[in-house]
Amino acid sequence: MNCQKYDTVDEFQQEVLEWWNENSRQLPWREDPTPYHVLVSEVMLQQTQVSRVVPKYLEFLEKFPDFESLANADTRHLLQVWSGLGYNRRALWLRNAAQEILRRGEFPKEEEELRELKGIGHYTSRSILIFAFNRDLATVDTNIRRVLISSGFATEEMSRSEVQDVAERLLPKGMSRDWHNALMDYGSLVLTSNATGITPKSTQSRFSGSSREIRGVVIQLMIENDEMTVNQLSSEIEQRNLDSTELMEIVGQLVEEGFLTYTDSGTLSIAG
Ligand code: ADE
Repeated sequence: MNCQKYDTVDEFQQEVLEWWNENSRQLPWREDPTPYHVLVSEVMLQQTQVSRVVPKYLEFLEKFPDFESLANADTRHLLQVWSGLGYNRRALWLRNAAQEILRRGEFPKEEEELRELKGIGHYTSRSILIFAFNRDLATVDTNIRRVLISSGFATEEMSRSEVQDVAERLLPKGMSRDWHNALMDYGSLVLTSNATGITPKSTQSRFSGSSREIRGVVIQLMIENDEMTVNQLSSEIEQRNLDSTELMEIVGQLVEEGFLTYTDSGTLSIAG
């Protein structure tokens, strides 16, 4: 079925951009899109919705206003500021990225270089280049995908790479930053999933009772307590009616990922 709503790509671009002129969202990372601001916001926005990111982003920038302060952040403080955003690994990856960027002496300007940083994949590397440097690249998140499908340029059956090809064809050259902001706003304010009936291609795994929930509880407990034994963690988890059978595996992962460390006396604490 082809229900093309626009005769030309120009017409689609014009409609979206004209709508956006009157209706753009004021989001704090758009005000001064430096590479640092864009890096922080894009990593936060990877798995967390805009309304939850906004206050956290502002708080994060107050505490860690630049690459230097983030690179030198204490783990406990960093995780405290991050708490509420979920997927805590991202906070450590972000600090790691800041350290690596300072070591290199310049911000990466190519997708491949950005992808060498842990936690930055295809989508985020392109988003960063688009929003920080207005580079002529296209990227597709769930909002953009819905707009492209609803406007008749893509279909729900298309693979990610087919939709990516469509997005590249529709990009108005030289306006990549505005264009992507406009598509994201159009998707989240007008062509919503309620309005269109289009569902995301991949959904996040169920959170409640998952090992991700237990990871979050462990990190929160370790932020609140200088040292804890595995038994103490286990009883705290049981008290929350969660299943602690996977606890040792989760603790092992958190140690390996650099969140936690074993003290000389065998208790756990947040890593330096
Ligand atoms: N999601 C990912 N990046 C975004 C951005 N820059 N603005 C709004 N939502 C986003």
